Amino acid sequence: MASPDTITIRRPDDWHLHFRDGETMRAVVPHTARQFARAIVMPNLSPPVTTTSMAAAYRDRIVAAVPAGVAFTPLMTAYLTDDTDPDDLAQGFESGVLTAAKLYPAGATTNSASGVTDIRKIDRVLERMAEIGMPLCVHGEVTSADIDIFDREAVFIERVLAPLIERMPELRVIFEHITTRQAVDFVDSAGENVAATITPQHLHINRNAILVGGIRPHMYCLPVAKREEHRLGLRKAATSGSAKYFLGTDSAPHHRHAKESDCGCAGIFNAPFALESYLTVFEEEGAIDRFEAFASLNGPGFYRLPVNEDEVTLERADIPVPYEVDGGDARVVPFHAGERLGWRLRA
Ligand code: DOR
Ligand code: ZN
Repeated sequence: MASPDTITIRRPDDWHLHFRDGETMRAVVPHTARQFARAIVMPNLSPPVTTTSMAAAYRDRIVAAVPAGVAFTPLMTAYLTDDTDPDDLAQGFESGVLTAAKLYPAGATTNSASGVTDIRKIDRVLERMAEIGMPLCVHGEVTSADIDIFDREAVFIERVLAPLIERMPELRVIFEHITTRQAVDFVDSAGENVAATITPQHLHINRNAILVGGIRPHMYCLPVAKREEHRLGLRKAATSGSAKYFLGTDSAPHHRHAKESDCGCAGIFNAPFALESYLTVFEEEGAIDRFEAFASLNGPGFYRLPVNEDEVTLERADIPVPYEVDGGDARVVPFHAGERLGWRLRA
């Protein structure tokens, strides 16, 4: 069967995203609001969004940055620390301010210094979340200095995630931005309470993209891209039709100078062409018919939220991706910069 020239699907959501704050936030929110109806907003600001009231205030700042006439709803998360108050979290979830809570192992990534130092320290919080059905978003990497950076996700499954789910089989867990075959195997074999998001970059690049021919800081994110066999495993999972996998861009803007530095920040800014980037993968895999499930149905299904009623259309077009875009106080280099994409989201 020939590939179609347009595809119309229910409006998608982004189930994992970084907006930052201030001028950067105001510059990047329109990109996401153009493509998605809702997004799970990560709380790793500085200082982090650790309470319900901080999340409500952050939500209001995001809403104020949505362009007039655009319908977009940020779904807020709270950043778990060793001292998170289970009552505040439960109140935030039950009042609708919080959609989920985010586990950053302390030191795993950008602004994670206040994260959880030992998962056992938040058992009471996690038990409460399991009780009320509040989803847990997990950055799944161990942080021990003796574990190789390319092994940190696989070791996290063994040491932290599998035991956690064993202890709390009711807890609803999203294994965020998975990067390995081990993660796919784990999610496939876990119960219905375990799902995963997959980013566009981990479907497009392997670790060579970061290191071959020179260091490419704009291809660097965490968890870092792995070997080709892992990329292929992720493509298979995303396009498999399994309801356990859904779209989460992990779009993470850092200003150009902060990436191109002697200690460049982790994060890939993919918001401007996220849908076009994912659809390219689904087409290459001969799975355009499964794109809607991944982008628009599986996420709401897992989060127990209604699917969006309106639709979007993507059409074939030859789209040059700019080398940089406005990032508020400075420029940001988008994913696919300087490349051409074969699809365009119709305005
Ligand atoms: O690459 C990443 N960037 N991974 C993360 O986990 C955090 C994110 C960020 O906030 O920049
Ligand atoms: Zn992230």
